[in-house]
Amino acid sequence: MSSPRTTHGSPHVADPAPGYGALRPARSWLHSDAPSLSLNGPWRFRLSPTAAVAEDFAADAFDDGGWDTLPVPSHWVLQGDGAYGRPIYTNVQYPFPIDPPHVPDENPTGDHRRHFALPDGWTDAERIVLRFDGVESLYRVWVNGREVGGATGSRLAHEFDVTEAVRPGDNVVAVRVHQWSAASYVEDQDQWWLPGVFRDVTLHARPAGGIEDVWLRTGYQDGHGRIDPEVTAGPAAFPVTLRVPELGIEQVWSSPADVAPLAAGAVLPWTAEEPRLYEATVASATETVTLRIGFRTVEIRGDRFLVNGRRVVFHGMNRHETHPERGRVFDEEHARADLERMKRFNVNAIRTSHYPPHPRLLDLADELGFWVVLECDLETHGFDAVGWTGNPSDDPAWRDAYLDRIRRTVERDKNHPSIVMWSLGNEAGTGTNLAAMSAWVHARDGGRPVHYEGDHTGAYTDVYSRMYSSVPETEQIGTDGSRAPLLNCTPAQGAHQRTKPFVLCEYAHAMGNGPGALDQYEALVHAHPRLHGGFVWEWRDHGIATAASDGTPYFGYGGDFGEVVHDGNFVMDGMLLSDDVPTPSLYEFKAVVQPVRFSFGAGTVEIANLRHSADTSDLRFRWRVEHDGVQVAGGGLEVPAVPAGESVTVPLPAVPVAGDAETWLTVEAVLAAATAWAEAGHEVATAQQDRSVPRPAPTARTRGDWRPAEGTLTLGIAEFAAGSLVRLAGRPVTGPALELFRAPTDNDEGTSGAVEESDASVAGISNAALWRRDGLDRLTTRRISVECADGALRTVDRVSAANSGLWVTVESTWSLEDGELELRVETAPSRGWSTVWPRIGVRFELPDAGAPVDGAEWFGAGPLESYPDSMAAARVGRFAAGVGELSVDYARPQETGHRSQVRELTLTSAGTGVLRVTACPDGRGRRPGFSLGRHTPQQIAGAAHPFELPVSAAGHLIIDAAQHGLGSRACGPDVWPPFALRPEARTIRLRLRAG
Ligand code: GAL
Repeated sequence: MSSPRTTHGSPHVADPAPGYGALRPARSWLHSDAPSLSLNGPWRFRLSPTAAVAEDFAADAFDDGGWDTLPVPSHWVLQGDGAYGRPIYTNVQYPFPIDPPHVPDENPTGDHRRHFALPDGWTDAERIVLRFDGVESLYRVWVNGREVGGATGSRLAHEFDVTEAVRPGDNVVAVRVHQWSAASYVEDQDQWWLPGVFRDVTLHARPAGGIEDVWLRTGYQDGHGRIDPEVTAGPAAFPVTLRVPELGIEQVWSSPADVAPLAAGAVLPWTAEEPRLYEATVASATETVTLRIGFRTVEIRGDRFLVNGRRVVFHGMNRHETHPERGRVFDEEHARADLERMKRFNVNAIRTSHYPPHPRLLDLADELGFWVVLECDLETHGFDAVGWTGNPSDDPAWRDAYLDRIRRTVERDKNHPSIVMWSLGNEAGTGTNLAAMSAWVHARDGGRPVHYEGDHTGAYTDVYSRMYSSVPETEQIGTDGSRAPLLNCTPAQGAHQRTKPFVLCEYAHAMGNGPGALDQYEALVHAHPRLHGGFVWEWRDHGIATAASDGTPYFGYGGDFGEVVHDGNFVMDGMLLSDDVPTPSLYEFKAVVQPVRFSFGAGTVEIANLRHSADTSDLRFRWRVEHDGVQVAGGGLEVPAVPAGESVTVPLPAVPVAGDAETWLTVEAVLAAATAWAEAGHEVATAQQDRSVPRPAPTARTRGDWRPAEGTLTLGIAEFAAGSLVRLAGRPVTGPALELFRAPTDNDEGTSGAVEESDASVAGISNAALWRRDGLDRLTTRRISVECADGALRTVDRVSAANSGLWVTVESTWSLEDGELELRVETAPSRGWSTVWPRIGVRFELPDAGAPVDGAEWFGAGPLESYPDSMAAARVGRFAAGVGELSVDYARPQETGHRSQVRELTLTSAGTGVLRVTACPDGRGRRPGFSLGRHTPQQIAGAAHPFELPVSAAGHLIIDAAQHGLGSRACGPDVWPPFALRPEARTIRLRLRAG
């Protein structure tokens, strides 16, 4: 460790050294019966604008009576309603000049102080240790006026030996925290910059003869377990006894030299699916440490990543620690609920992006069952802006800091069976310091492979990892014999990378509405065993709870806190919204990765178990038949337990098929009994089969008796003035108006992705920019004709935008057919449209008129929104939702709410039907979708936050003949060509009835 150093005005802040003073070596975060005292709680607090403030506050006798009070753990920028500064969000950018290792003199510095009473009896302890589990970014510690040391490594644990500094009775601890330091250069993760003492502070009495550290490495092979122990303790601690009561193990080691591997006998293995843990204790005469061990062996064999000899497929999430009020402060109850939710959504893996989480999270992962990639706290992405010049990853001055970070990462969490890989960090370029980290891990822990995505050529890591590679590129990586070049690799390096297991450490950027194509990635995993799945970016939005000037609460993102540089809403890219609400993308993920696959045959269903190793004995299978969404039959399916990797085919019951309705068969696998994370009956997997007999759509009538029309007209439930609809079923209604625009999604606004793979994209220009260029958001209409015939009205409009020579012809025909009102809209684009279109639809405005349309019931795909490249979670059925539930509250308002393949729709007001719409398939059997909301696409597009949406006095119903796909171009590929909507002629045909 380096000694304290002072540079002008900023003691220590420009020193890359990881720490100084009485810092103790890294060790496991153990559950011990040795006494400890939490120092969490209220601390006295003072914030200074620079680091150059007198250190007198650390003195024992200093009077902090004028200071404020701040809770520990917390981030000061999230306390005091802005009194202590505000959070800053950047993705890649450094929020300070790139001048390593220096940081500006404007360096918010938080001084913290508290008193504590040394518990009686602690004076007998051999050592007293003060532990900080997380402080951002550089901190220095004094006890009773004596400086005991300091450290960096914000999301890492540090322990200081304070034995000489503490005294019986009252003590005072002072901690100075600088927001910026040299360490900030290596903590440039895409997240909020949140200074403070944000994890626990604890004082530990270390007994004489105590256990300093324990590592119970385990192995599993052919039903048998093995424990390879490592005990760090002085000779006085011995004899040390290992007990695993459930296995009858009681092993006494009389000296350090005695500690040797032992066979644990017949055990059940630990897996993410069946996380079998055994309680173990390691005890000396003065201290007992309790661990929960799981038996498993991680291994790479050729291009396969195996646990217990079987290939692992990661259906993972990148998990940041983030909360709208607490920031990165850990809340165990919330974390547990979060992980239980992951399990319910078929998530089986977590990458702890991009730093070690609170240590308790790993206990939860062991217990609930996740494959964990544990990542070190390291990212230097901002050096990209200067061509990576001066990147710490390749600078010897930073070697100690890098090694210290990985040591603290591995040592703290090494006992967790859930951790199957160590990751050196994220987006830190490449360099010898990373290679040195990897070498250190290999020497220390031969039982877990090393991951680092930035090692593109595979020079020092064990798996090949990429982020956001497109579907074709990912396929190339998985394909034997492919010579397709790999990113930044020579042919030889590429060949070398193809000898390794491949993981997508990030894919499927879940920003806003999207991503699409989850199913395409999943299909690759089953076709190419080298591909081991991946980790969605990311689990949750990072919104910070704040309020608009009128007090309306909302979730803030970059730019909402007066930041000088920021990256806007790029931090809102989770499958959960900031308030824990799962977005439709999470349901899509659940459906795509479901561990049971159903394939229907004639009168049979094949049930394939895609799990790692668990059979299906925890599941029950059931079926039901619906006629137009109404259940008419159902029951259980007899399915024998299917071993992992195998399948069975079972007969299906006779399905009653309706002559005048659609017949759908649904099968489900549900939990037979409650688990730690779901109730009995929780749906794990499902599939549907269409058993309908084909029924012809009513033929469209052609008429020859059209004549010019004017004035008012009534056709059944519709009333018209000058050819335009004014009332429908007794309510004021206008429309249909051609709608080609959707409020751009974050993916529509994106510019990334390989253009050659998607004929929909223009390099460097977002689709949304092209739509605005072509005026899709500002269409105007010129009526060409209004004509009527017996029981019919026809209008022809030419729809186009200012300063554009392109147009769409819209022919709308209202007629009475079989006593019902029919609307037929035919749209045809002029020549010359060159981009994709967001949608081809017609919009109706439904003024509130005292009884607002506030809900919908429909028979079609649901229950959630769906788009052409995100259809896996949608099933055909009968659904109902209030207008508020039909839209998702994305942090930045955007297209939402499209329900695909609608057959029947009833608009409701206070629970009563006001209008019934039946949609006929078009000539090619395609059905329209609908959305119902309180705002037009143009209004939604104009709002940067939900509170900016205007007050609405009308509902808006859009019936879409087609929608464009979602893609994931906010950070990844654009919409895959078959799901891209090209300008084309379409027909929408509806039957309308009152009530
Ligand atoms: C990756 C990065 C993540 C996040 C993501 C985009 O490049 O590793 O931290 O920034 O892109 O949201």
